[in-house]
Amino acid sequence: MSRVLLGVSGGIAAYKACELVRLLTRRGHEVRVMMTAGAVEFVTPLTLQTLSGHPVRSELFAPGEESQISHIELADWADVVVLAPATANLIASLAQGLANDLVTTVCLATRAAVLVAPAMNVNMLQHPATQANLATLQERGVQRIGPDRGDLACGWTGEGRMVDPEVIVAATERLMRPAVLAEEAVLITAGPTEEPLDPVRVLSNRSSGKMGFALADEAAKRGAEVILIAGPVSLPTPIGVRRIDVRTAEEMRSAVFAEFEHATVVIKTAAVADYRAADTVDQKIKRESADTLEIKLVRNPDILREISAAKGERTVVGFAAETENVLANARDKLKRKGCDLIVVNDVSRADIGFDVDQNEVTIVGPTAEETTRVPLSSKVEIAAAILDRIIQVRKT
Ligand code: PMT
Repeated sequence: MSRVLLGVSGGIAAYKACELVRLLTRRGHEVRVMMTAGAVEFVTPLTLQTLSGHPVRSELFAPGEESQISHIELADWADVVVLAPATANLIASLAQGLANDLVTTVCLATRAAVLVAPAMNVNMLQHPATQANLATLQERGVQRIGPDRGDLACGWTGEGRMVDPEVIVAATERLMRPAVLAEEAVLITAGPTEEPLDPVRVLSNRSSGKMGFALADEAAKRGAEVILIAGPVSLPTPIGVRRIDVRTAEEMRSAVFAEFEHATVVIKTAAVADYRAADTVDQKIKRESADTLEIKLVRNPDILREISAAKGERTVVGFAAETENVLANARDKLKRKGCDLIVVNDVSRADIGFDVDQNEVTIVGPTAEETTRVPLSSKVEIAAAILDRIIQVRKT
């Protein structure tokens, strides 16, 4: 859990600060809010106080407020200061080092990392003064996220819209953690594939995508660029992750190869169908009088084996879903597929593996010494252990 000090300044995007506080607190961060006089015109301190669970401060000299927590204590308290929305005026004040209200004074006094999420009219953004101020802040190590392009509240269209709160959360979390994977582009596959038998029936499996999505979330939190290729699942996209949805094994293969060039680490968590129907049937298969129905299946491409053969300097990690001789089969799979590591889970157990929140895995390397058991824990913790192991491999 980190301590986030959110500074809200006076623009229409201030209403999005409510959602930002809600997302940050839901992710376990402690959030305190300070507001400029302008911000109070757009959103009430009471709303942000209720959402954050802490009194909201807006005045530099308010004896009642200072007795609770002084502006210097606030500056020292923060692990990260997020200014969202950051107006042209706030950005200019920061660039000049002004301390003429609570928000600017705290920003001058804090030693925490500062993130600004600008929001303003397109012409104000493009004005040389604003551009120079943003460049000054960048030189001083202030991080910036956005703004986006789009329809602006003032009626203009163009750059100036504050990025979505989810994007600000991802950027905030990147600032909190040592970005150990900042140099890596991690390509992850997750979920099942669906192979159509006819227009209404599919051949699939029980993969929920939870394991792969946990890996994507954790990799993004550790600073990696993450591309998540997902089969049909009903999970929200982790913050800061680029997601590509696919259906069949063939589609997954095409998406993997489209992104492969760029990736430095590939993790194949997906439960890919080994077979698909040999013939594409355009009409629903009819219930015939015979008691049996034969459908001819043909083998799907083995994506893991193909990428392992072409991996070069990349680290390729496979998964193995086994029901017997778990370790021996995993070792054999590691050799046959040619990947660097294979993560094996015993899917004969109901409490781990498919469609549950927990897992228990062994990360199998080429030798017994390079093999580690990760005991029963949440898929979030399993994902962290797998990424720790990948980081070790990348270092050697
Ligand atoms: O999604 P969840 O509900 O969270 O469940 C997680 C999981 C059980 C699906 C996951 O932990 C897991 O075991 N994933 C691998 C499932 C699987 O297909 O295992 P396999 O042993 O059949 O395949 C071995 C490896 O080859 C896998 O990395 C698979 O992605 C890959 N493969 C398989 C077939 C194929 N045609 N192409 C492939 O790339």
